[in-house]
Amino acid sequence: MNFSLNEEQLAVREAARDFAQRVLKPGVIDRDRDMIYPTDEVKQMAELGFMGMMVSPEYGGGGMDSLSYIIALEELSKVDNSCSVIMSVNNSLVCYGLEHYGTEDQKQKYLTKLATGEWIGAFCLSEPEAGSDATSQRTTAIDMGDHYLLNGTKNWITNGGTSQVHLVVAQTDVDKGHRGINCLIVETDWEGVTIGAKEDKLGIRSSDTHTIMYNDVKVPKENIIGEDGFGFKFAMKTLAGGRIGIAAQALGIAGGAYELATAYSKEREAFGKPISQHQAIAFKLADMATDIEAAKMMVYRAAWLKDEGRDFNQAGAMAKLFASSVAMKHTVEAVQIHGGYGFVKEYHVERLMRDAKITQIYEGTSEVQKIVISRGLLKGELYVETE
Ligand code: CAA
Repeated sequence: MNFSLNEEQLAVREAARDFAQRVLKPGVIDRDRDMIYPTDEVKQMAELGFMGMMVSPEYGGGGMDSLSYIIALEELSKVDNSCSVIMSVNNSLVCYGLEHYGTEDQKQKYLTKLATGEWIGAFCLSEPEAGSDATSQRTTAIDMGDHYLLNGTKNWITNGGTSQVHLVVAQTDVDKGHRGINCLIVETDWEGVTIGAKEDKLGIRSSDTHTIMYNDVKVPKENIIGEDGFGFKFAMKTLAGGRIGIAAQALGIAGGAYELATAYSKEREAFGKPISQHQAIAFKLADMATDIEAAKMMVYRAAWLKDEGRDFNQAGAMAKLFASSVAMKHTVEAVQIHGGYGFVKEYHVERLMRDAKITQIYEGTSEVQKIVISRGLLKGELYVETE
């Protein structure tokens, strides 16, 4: 593994860092407080090519590697995690899923619009009773000959109210278990699609999270992704990559909190010197930096394995498990270093602390990551490459 970033990766980091600090930071506190969807900011992200970074230029994407994408997400996440999750779902789940498993017609019709950010996509798997246990889908897609009839409710859908395309996972044949599940491409202006109330959340508050109801929605047969019964594996394969994106988000949150805490501790004086010169604070910064560096190695390595075409399932789950725990732990420390100032919105660290929590929940809770990791280990899969 080469630890140096190439010129393209460095340029992406610079562009994302500049965009996050110059465009996202000024309004992030207001958007978070009032749950304002970042319409203009997402438009600018699309103009920068951030909405379809890994998609081939043939379909309007940036043709970049996963590591470049991860670096961009990391930089945005230091500042605005609502923007980074909007980007993450569109790139890692929707665009990736369509590019790798969709038909040529589906790519021409949907991916070309999604990769440029003209349209936004949502990934609709979670249900009121099927969160971690993703095979227990209650949403049904009944085969009616020339179309599927889709009925059911999906919960906590990121980009739910602002997307034009949903990838909806549904049960076609309950007797077949996970082999009876399909994933269908649904356009949100079709009859029977209802966008429910927007969630009022602890963190990532300006991202758009909704319940979605599908009531007798007619989905053409050509909108199935892959073969009949491939829907669960499609979701698992797509989420495996998505988890690296959420790990990058967690890494960015931890990095953002560390940068704020370091800058504050150099300015703030107590007992006659900057608090950074008190061992109590200096040791906290040392612990933060060490954990963040370790998380970065894991997240970048998972992306590198993916770019190399090697198995990244366990590496991605480990990266998400570790980076999200680092984000949670060290955003709490960053608030502590800021003292009373850390508890008010103006100093940004309390928002990062609230945003950190979701990285331990979505795209598989920490417990789900442990299932993925331990099952792999028990099957005898090596988790460390020795060659
Ligand atoms: N790649 C390919 N195939 C996979 C796979 C992977 N990563 N993971 C599992 N499979 C296959 C298995 O090999 C198995 O196939 P066979 O029967 O042919 O051998 C099949 O899928 C079923 O696998 P399991 O028996 O392991 O399935 P399970 O029911 O025990 O579930 C689980 C395992 C890991 C807990 C899974 O249910 C899971 O990941 N749950 C969490 C779901 C999740 O992440 N939800 C997040 C919603 S999306 C979101 O959050 C987006 C957003 O808005 C931000």
